[in-house]
Amino acid sequence: MSTRGNFSGRIGFILAAAGSAVGLGNIWRFPYLAGQNGGAAFLLIYLICIFTLCFPVMIGEIAIGRKAQSDAYGSYQKLGGAQWGYLGLFGIVAGIFILSFYNVVAGWAFGYFLEITFGNLLNETDYGAFFGAYINNSWTILTFSLGFMVLTALIVSQGVQKGIEAAAKIMMPALYVILISLIIYSLTLPNAIEGVKFYLVPNLSEINVQTIFFALGQSFFSLSLGMGALVTYGSYVGKNQNIVSSAAIISIADTSVAFLAGLMVFPMVAALNAYDVQGPSLVFVVLTQVFHNMGPIVGRIVGGAFFLLLCFAALTSTISLLEVPAAYMVDQKKFPRKPVVWGLALLIFVLGLPSMLSFGRVEFLSHLTFYKNRDFLSFVSDMCDISLTVGACLMCIFIRKRWKIANMTEELSIGNDNYMGSWLRKYIDFTISWVCPILLGILSLLIIFDKFWGIELIFG
Ligand code: TRP
Repeated sequence: MSTRGNFSGRIGFILAAAGSAVGLGNIWRFPYLAGQNGGAAFLLIYLICIFTLCFPVMIGEIAIGRKAQSDAYGSYQKLGGAQWGYLGLFGIVAGIFILSFYNVVAGWAFGYFLEITFGNLLNETDYGAFFGAYINNSWTILTFSLGFMVLTALIVSQGVQKGIEAAAKIMMPALYVILISLIIYSLTLPNAIEGVKFYLVPNLSEINVQTIFFALGQSFFSLSLGMGALVTYGSYVGKNQNIVSSAAIISIADTSVAFLAGLMVFPMVAALNAYDVQGPSLVFVVLTQVFHNMGPIVGRIVGGAFFLLLCFAALTSTISLLEVPAAYMVDQKKFPRKPVVWGLALLIFVLGLPSMLSFGRVEFLSHLTFYKNRDFLSFVSDMCDISLTVGACLMCIFIRKRWKIANMTEELSIGNDNYMGSWLRKYIDFTISWVCPILLGILSLLIIFDKFWGIELIFG
């Protein structure tokens, strides 16, 4: 066991796991999904998902990892036998695909950081058109995504403490500072209050099945759940630590960043009257327009800082995504860490190429005929969301049927003397045994059905 890494302590683990959770999902994806799916109505469902489904699943994942002291595959296999190991493998494969498209978007953010800080991006006039052209500029995006993957691999190859932890300790706090400063600024813009209303006053009639589907998928994605990332991180957690309270801090940190990102973006959307900007371009278009309006010097500094921190947030997430398959290869196959990390990084980069080319560059990838003419990147990301909820559902079944709730409780009591008799224990037992597996099972099936055939077939 001495060859496996460990987090230096409680803060190290919390920062690394929160770093994994906080990423492009919070700042890039959450605002545009909320914008497309009813604003405050989406936020409400999202928060319900976090509390009732994600929080218990997070605790379960960390407990499995710390008990088994192994990677995602090894942990399930150790506690449950060979067949359950496949659940771990399923997660590892899902993580590989998530990283493949995630790294492409990270490449966009990296490009924006460089072009705002050192180039002329803020001299543009039409940021919608610019973004569309920019992400189709294959060589540029190829270079930046490759650069991002190299950074990720460099850190992961350093191992748990030196690489992952050290990176998160600096980046996380800085992100909060810039977010809050930008919120204060955006609230002073004309019409800001309209954006705040859209975001915070729920209109319950806007809740429909799509709102629920997107909010569910996003909540698991944002908290890095359902594919063994937190099983892997959990295996580096010391026995003296309180898993339940750490999970609460991680969930709150992640949810607050997503919440703040929305609070930053929607007043800007209202101020610029940019309601027609939707989807993946939202943050890139609206924020750069705001930075442009700040003037050449302030815009360059603030805009540069924002995209730099977005890259940091993305980096702590790509690190966790690469760590999962790397830990598997190191633990199970006994390969040396460095070559494994670089080999995986290359493979995943190549897997990301179709996503990169799916915004007009290659026609059939941009309009998948079997997927309602949507782009390949959305296809992969939807498939990954589904595998997260399916993975989480199976994890709950694993705990209940195979590992047993009593064993989980025993693990959670280590480092938390009061857990046994607490109401929280009852809540976790109940959600993991009933609420999560049933709801996640039914919703996952409905989502799969909807993605390929359309939910109208069921609900009319
Ligand atoms: N949670 C990260 C984000 O919101 C992405 C991420 C990192 C992730 N590791 C993960 C998603 C593991 C699912 C599973 O940006």
